[in-house]
Amino acid sequence: MYTLEDVDTDKLPKHVAVIMDGNGRWAKERGRLRVFGHENGVEAVRRTVENCAKLQIQFLTLYAFSTENWNRPKLEVETLMKLLVASLRKEVKTLNKNNIRLKTIGNIQSLPSKAQKELSEVISKTSKNSGMTLTLALSYGSREEIKSAVKDIASKVKNNIISPENIDETVINTHLYTHFLPDVDLLIRTSGEQRISNFLLWQIAYAELYFNDVFWPDFSEHHLVEAILSYQNRERRFGKTSEQLN
Ligand code: FPP
Repeated sequence: MYTLEDVDTDKLPKHVAVIMDGNGRWAKERGRLRVFGHENGVEAVRRTVENCAKLQIQFLTLYAFSTENWNRPKLEVETLMKLLVASLRKEVKTLNKNNIRLKTIGNIQSLPSKAQKELSEVISKTSKNSGMTLTLALSYGSREEIKSAVKDIASKVKNNIISPENIDETVINTHLYTHFLPDVDLLIRTSGEQRISNFLLWQIAYAELYFNDVFWPDFSEHHLVEAILSYQNRERRFGKTSEQLN
Protein backbone atom coordinates (compact mmCIF):
# COMPACT_ATOMS: atom_id res chain seq x y z
CA MET A 1 0.00 0.00 0.00
CA TYR A 2 1.37 3.41 -0.93
CA THR A 3 1.43 6.23 1.60
CA LEU A 4 2.02 9.98 1.27
CA GLU A 5 5.69 9.37 2.10
CA ASP A 6 6.16 7.63 -1.26
CA VAL A 7 5.58 10.88 -3.17
CA ASP A 8 8.51 12.92 -4.49
CA THR A 9 7.54 16.34 -3.13
CA ASP A 10 9.92 18.10 -5.55
CA LYS A 11 7.84 16.98 -8.53
CA LEU A 12 4.30 17.59 -7.36
CA PRO A 13 1.53 18.44 -9.80
CA LYS A 14 0.53 22.03 -9.06
CA HIS A 15 -3.13 21.54 -10.01
CA VAL A 16 -4.95 18.22 -9.54
CA ALA A 17 -8.52 17.85 -10.81
CA VAL A 18 -10.78 14.90 -10.04
CA ILE A 19 -13.88 13.46 -11.70
CA MET A 20 -15.36 11.62 -8.70
CA ASP A 21 -17.31 8.81 -10.33
CA GLY A 22 -18.93 5.56 -9.20
CA ASN A 23 -20.93 6.50 -6.09
CA GLY A 24 -24.11 4.98 -7.54
CA ARG A 25 -22.47 1.69 -8.54
CA TRP A 26 -20.69 1.47 -5.18
CA ALA A 27 -24.09 1.65 -3.44
CA LYS A 28 -25.73 -0.78 -5.90
CA GLU A 29 -23.04 -3.37 -5.21
CA ARG A 30 -24.12 -3.20 -1.57
CA GLY A 31 -27.83 -3.37 -2.37
CA ARG A 32 -28.31 0.20 -1.16
CA LEU A 33 -29.81 3.38 -2.68
CA ARG A 34 -27.59 5.67 -4.76
CA VAL A 35 -27.71 8.36 -2.07
CA PHE A 36 -25.86 5.97 0.26
CA GLY A 37 -23.03 6.05 -2.27
CA HIS A 38 -22.98 9.85 -2.23
CA GLU A 39 -22.89 9.91 1.59
CA ASN A 40 -19.83 7.68 1.50
CA GLY A 41 -18.45 9.75 -1.37
CA VAL A 42 -18.30 12.69 1.03
CA GLU A 43 -15.86 10.72 3.22
CA ALA A 44 -13.63 10.17 0.18
CA VAL A 45 -13.79 13.92 -0.50
CA ARG A 46 -12.62 14.62 3.07
CA ARG A 47 -9.76 12.11 2.80
CA THR A 48 -8.63 13.41 -0.56
CA VAL A 49 -8.74 17.07 0.48
CA GLU A 50 -6.80 16.30 3.64
CA ASN A 51 -4.19 14.20 1.83
CA CYS A 52 -3.69 16.78 -0.92
CA ALA A 53 -3.28 19.50 1.70
CA LYS A 54 -0.73 17.39 3.59
CA LEU A 55 1.23 16.94 0.36
CA GLN A 56 1.05 20.71 -0.20
CA ILE A 57 -0.69 20.42 -3.55
CA GLN A 58 -1.53 24.03 -4.42
CA PHE A 59 -4.80 23.55 -6.31
CA LEU A 60 -7.38 20.77 -6.04
CA THR A 61 -10.53 20.94 -8.18
CA LEU A 62 -13.39 18.49 -7.67
CA TYR A 63 -16.24 17.83 -10.11
CA ALA A 64 -19.06 17.69 -7.55
CA PHE A 65 -22.12 18.42 -9.74
CA SER A 66 -22.35 18.85 -13.50
CA THR A 67 -24.93 20.81 -15.48
CA GLU A 68 -26.14 17.40 -16.73
CA ASN A 69 -26.61 16.12 -13.15
CA TRP A 70 -29.76 18.30 -12.85
CA ASN A 71 -31.48 15.59 -14.94
CA ARG A 72 -31.10 12.99 -12.16
CA PRO A 73 -34.10 11.95 -10.01
CA LYS A 74 -35.33 14.79 -7.78
CA LEU A 75 -34.51 12.91 -4.55
CA GLU A 76 -30.92 12.34 -5.65
CA VAL A 77 -30.40 16.00 -6.62
CA GLU A 78 -31.92 17.14 -3.29
CA THR A 79 -29.69 14.75 -1.36
CA LEU A 80 -26.57 15.95 -3.15
CA MET A 81 -27.46 19.57 -2.32
CA LYS A 82 -28.18 18.68 1.33
CA LEU A 83 -24.88 16.81 1.57
CA LEU A 84 -23.09 19.82 0.15
CA VAL A 85 -24.66 22.21 2.68
CA ALA A 86 -24.08 19.84 5.62
CA SER A 87 -20.46 19.17 4.62
CA LEU A 88 -19.67 22.86 4.20
CA ARG A 89 -21.12 23.62 7.61
CA LYS A 90 -19.20 20.79 9.21
CA GLU A 91 -15.88 21.35 7.50
CA VAL A 92 -15.33 25.10 7.68
CA LYS A 93 -13.23 24.75 10.84
CA THR A 94 -11.08 22.00 9.30
CA LEU A 95 -10.58 24.09 6.16
CA ASN A 96 -9.31 26.98 8.27
CA LYS A 97 -7.15 24.71 10.43
CA ASN A 98 -5.50 23.37 7.29
CA ASN A 99 -5.15 26.82 5.67
CA ILE A 100 -7.42 25.81 2.75
CA ARG A 101 -9.26 28.42 0.68
CA LEU A 102 -12.61 27.38 -0.83
CA LYS A 103 -13.67 28.53 -4.30
CA THR A 104 -16.35 27.46 -6.77
CA ILE A 105 -16.72 27.29 -10.52
CA GLY A 106 -19.97 26.81 -12.40
CA ASN A 107 -23.41 28.34 -12.58
CA ILE A 108 -23.72 28.92 -8.84
CA GLN A 109 -26.93 31.00 -9.23
CA SER A 110 -28.75 27.85 -10.31
CA LEU A 111 -28.12 26.13 -6.95
CA PRO A 112 -30.77 26.23 -4.17
CA SER A 113 -30.50 29.47 -2.19
CA LYS A 114 -29.45 27.59 0.98
CA ALA A 115 -26.48 26.09 -0.84
CA GLN A 116 -25.55 29.47 -2.35
CA LYS A 117 -25.65 31.11 1.08
CA GLU A 118 -23.57 28.39 2.74
CA LEU A 119 -21.03 28.50 -0.08
CA SER A 120 -20.61 32.25 0.05
CA GLU A 121 -20.16 32.10 3.83
CA VAL A 122 -17.45 29.42 3.66
CA ILE A 123 -15.76 31.17 0.72
CA SER A 124 -15.61 34.39 2.70
CA LYS A 125 -14.53 32.67 5.97
CA THR A 126 -11.64 30.90 4.19
CA SER A 127 -10.68 33.67 1.76
CA LYS A 128 -7.55 34.69 3.69
CA ASN A 129 -6.10 31.17 3.73
CA SER A 130 -2.93 30.84 1.71
CA GLY A 131 -2.36 27.07 1.51
CA MET A 132 -4.28 24.88 -0.91
CA THR A 133 -7.11 26.26 -3.04
CA LEU A 134 -10.00 23.78 -3.08
CA THR A 135 -12.36 24.47 -5.95
CA LEU A 136 -15.75 22.78 -6.18
CA ALA A 137 -17.22 22.55 -9.67
CA LEU A 138 -20.96 22.90 -9.06
CA SER A 139 -23.57 23.04 -11.80
CA TYR A 140 -20.49 23.14 -13.97
CA GLY A 141 -20.23 22.43 -17.69
CA SER A 142 -17.16 23.24 -19.71
CA ARG A 143 -19.00 24.09 -22.94
CA GLU A 144 -21.27 26.45 -21.01
CA GLU A 145 -18.16 28.07 -19.48
CA ILE A 146 -16.54 28.51 -22.90
CA LYS A 147 -19.78 29.83 -24.40
CA SER A 148 -20.09 32.40 -21.64
CA ALA A 149 -16.43 33.49 -22.10
CA VAL A 150 -16.97 33.88 -25.87
CA LYS A 151 -20.09 35.99 -25.25
CA ASP A 152 -18.25 38.27 -22.78
CA ILE A 153 -15.32 38.73 -25.13
CA ALA A 154 -17.63 39.36 -28.11
CA SER A 155 -19.49 42.02 -26.17
CA LYS A 156 -16.19 43.70 -25.21
CA VAL A 157 -15.15 43.66 -28.87
CA LYS A 158 -18.49 45.23 -29.83
CA ASN A 159 -17.96 47.98 -27.26
CA ASN A 160 -14.35 48.60 -28.38
CA ILE A 161 -12.91 47.38 -25.04
CA ILE A 162 -10.86 44.63 -26.73
CA SER A 163 -9.72 44.53 -30.34
CA PRO A 164 -9.98 41.14 -32.11
CA GLU A 165 -6.21 41.02 -32.81
CA ASN A 166 -5.53 41.18 -29.07
CA ILE A 167 -7.55 38.07 -28.24
CA ASP A 168 -4.97 35.55 -27.08
CA GLU A 169 -4.90 32.63 -24.61
CA THR A 170 -4.49 35.00 -21.65
CA VAL A 171 -7.60 36.96 -22.64
CA ILE A 172 -9.55 33.71 -22.96
CA ASN A 173 -8.22 32.41 -19.61
CA THR A 174 -9.27 35.57 -17.82
CA HIS A 175 -12.87 35.15 -19.05
CA LEU A 176 -13.27 31.55 -17.89
CA TYR A 177 -14.74 30.58 -14.49
CA THR A 178 -11.24 29.24 -13.73
CA HIS A 179 -9.46 32.62 -14.20
CA PHE A 180 -7.88 32.21 -10.73
CA LEU A 181 -6.48 28.74 -11.48
CA PRO A 182 -3.45 27.52 -13.41
CA ASP A 183 -3.86 24.81 -16.09
CA VAL A 184 -4.57 21.31 -14.78
CA ASP A 185 -1.46 19.10 -14.45
CA LEU A 186 -3.12 15.85 -13.41
CA LEU A 187 -6.71 14.80 -14.08
CA ILE A 188 -7.95 11.73 -12.20
CA ARG A 189 -11.20 9.88 -12.98
CA THR A 190 -12.39 6.98 -10.86
CA SER A 191 -14.73 4.04 -11.59
CA GLY A 192 -13.18 2.77 -14.81
CA GLU A 193 -14.87 5.26 -17.16
CA GLN A 194 -12.42 6.88 -19.55
CA ARG A 195 -14.25 10.07 -20.49
CA ILE A 196 -13.87 13.77 -19.74
CA SER A 197 -17.63 14.44 -19.45
CA ASN A 198 -17.54 18.16 -20.18
CA PHE A 199 -15.00 18.95 -17.41
CA LEU A 200 -12.34 21.68 -17.85
CA LEU A 201 -11.94 21.05 -21.60
CA TRP A 202 -9.76 24.12 -22.19
CA GLN A 203 -7.78 23.77 -18.95
CA ILE A 204 -6.69 20.12 -19.49
CA ALA A 205 -4.96 20.81 -22.83
CA TYR A 206 -1.63 19.50 -21.45
CA ALA A 207 -2.84 17.58 -18.39
CA GLU A 208 -1.75 14.03 -17.71
CA LEU A 209 -4.86 11.83 -17.59
CA TYR A 210 -5.14 9.08 -15.00
CA PHE A 211 -7.99 6.57 -14.91
CA ASN A 212 -8.54 4.25 -12.00
CA ASP A 213 -11.04 1.39 -11.58
CA VAL A 214 -12.10 2.03 -7.97
CA PHE A 215 -15.48 3.57 -7.24
CA TRP A 216 -15.14 7.02 -5.68
CA PRO A 217 -16.20 6.07 -2.09
CA ASP A 218 -13.24 3.64 -2.02
CA PHE A 219 -10.69 6.19 -3.28
CA SER A 220 -7.99 6.25 -0.59
CA GLU A 221 -4.56 7.65 0.21
CA HIS A 222 -3.10 4.67 -1.66
CA HIS A 223 -5.02 5.50 -4.86
CA LEU A 224 -4.15 9.20 -4.69
CA VAL A 225 -0.46 8.40 -4.28
CA GLU A 226 -0.63 5.84 -7.11
CA ALA A 227 -2.04 8.55 -9.40
CA ILE A 228 0.65 11.06 -8.39
CA LEU A 229 3.42 8.48 -8.84
CA SER A 230 2.10 7.71 -12.31
CA TYR A 231 2.20 11.47 -13.06
CA GLN A 232 5.75 11.72 -11.72
CA ASN A 233 6.90 8.92 -13.99
CA ARG A 234 5.65 10.57 -17.15
CA GLU A 235 7.62 12.87 -19.40
CA ARG A 236 5.68 16.06 -20.05
CA ARG A 237 6.94 17.31 -23.39
CA PHE A 238 4.43 20.10 -24.21
CA GLY A 239 4.98 19.34 -27.92
CA LYS A 240 8.78 19.27 -27.69
CA THR A 241 11.07 16.23 -28.17
CA SER A 242 12.69 14.35 -25.28
CA GLU A 243 16.10 15.65 -26.39
CA GLN A 244 14.94 19.26 -26.26
CA LEU A 245 13.75 18.76 -22.69
CA ASN A 246 17.16 17.44 -21.65
C1 FPP B 1 -20.55 10.46 -9.36
O1 FPP B 1 -21.05 9.21 -9.00
C2 FPP B 1 -20.63 11.44 -8.31
C3 FPP B 1 -21.38 12.58 -8.33
C4 FPP B 1 -22.30 12.94 -9.42
C5 FPP B 1 -21.37 13.56 -7.25
C6 FPP B 1 -20.14 13.64 -6.40
C7 FPP B 1 -20.58 14.09 -5.08
C8 FPP B 1 -20.06 13.71 -3.90
C9 FPP B 1 -18.87 12.87 -3.78
C10 FPP B 1 -20.70 14.10 -2.63
C11 FPP B 1 -20.92 15.57 -2.38
C12 FPP B 1 -19.75 16.46 -2.64
C13 FPP B 1 -19.20 17.36 -1.80
C14 FPP B 1 -18.12 18.23 -2.34
C15 FPP B 1 -19.57 17.52 -0.39
P1 FPP B 1 -22.29 8.67 -9.81
O2 FPP B 1 -23.53 8.96 -9.05
O3 FPP B 1 -22.27 9.21 -11.21
O4 FPP B 1 -21.99 7.12 -9.82
P2 FPP B 1 -22.40 6.06 -10.94
O5 FPP B 1 -21.66 6.44 -12.18
O6 FPP B 1 -21.92 4.77 -10.36
O7 FPP B 1 -23.87 6.12 -11.09
